[in-house]
Amino acid sequence: MTIMTHEIYEQLAKTKLLPLYTATDLSCLDKLEEILVKNEVRFIEVTFRSDLAAEAMKQLSKSGELTVGAGTVRSLAEAELAVASGAKFVVSPAVVPEVIDYCLSKNIPVFPGTATPGDIQRALDYGIKVVKFFPADIYGGLKAIKALGGPFYDVQFLPTGGIDKSNFMDYLSDAHVIGVGGSFIISEALIQKDNGKTANEALKELVDLLEER
Ligand code: 3PG
Repeated sequence: MTIMTHEIYEQLAKTKLLPLYTATDLSCLDKLEEILVKNEVRFIEVTFRSDLAAEAMKQLSKSGELTVGAGTVRSLAEAELAVASGAKFVVSPAVVPEVIDYCLSKNIPVFPGTATPGDIQRALDYGIKVVKFFPADIYGGLKAIKALGGPFYDVQFLPTGGIDKSNFMDYLSDAHVIGVGGSFIISEALIQKDNGKTANEALKELVDLLEER
C-alpha cells in the first residue's frame, strides 16, 4: 500500500473535518465519542498539549468507533507513544524528520506542518503529498493555498489555525484542500458546558453545512 492511497486519506477526504482535541478531563471522553459518532465525524486528533494525551488516545481507540490520531507530535518519543496508545495517524506542527522517518517506517500517515514552499518541498522529498498548512490564517489562508497549489499542483493541504464556522466552507471549496482541522469542531470546554448539548448542536451545524454543499 502506498502512502497516498492509505485509507486515512480517503476517510479525511470524505469526512472533511478533523477535530483537534486537547484532553484535560478524561471524564469528557465518552461524551466526545458519542457526539462524534452521532454526527458521523469518526475522526479525532488528540494533541500532546496535555499530560493526558496518551491515555485519551487509548480510551478513544477502545471501542473502534473512531479513527484516533495524535497531534502536536514534535519528537520521536511522542510519535512512538502515540502509536503505542492506538494512534492511527500523526500530525506535527512542523516538518520533523525523526517523526516522519518513524511514521513512514510503520506505514502510519503523517501530516507534517508546513507554511512555506520550502516546508512543502521538504515534505515532498519524503514522498508526502498531503500536508498540514499551519497556521493557515496567519500564513495567507485560502489565498496562500491557491498560490502554493500552482507549483505544488499535486499536493493536498489540511489547513488548521484560525479556521471556524464562518470560513471552513471557503477552504473546502478549493480542490487542493483535502479537509480542515481545528479546535472549532469540538472542544472539551464546550462539552463541559452542558454535558455536550451545545457541542453536539455546534457540530451538527457544521455537518449540515457540509451536506448542503
Ligand atoms: C493546530 O495545532 O492545528 C492549531 O493549534 C489549531 O488551531 P485552532 O485552535 O485555531 O483551530
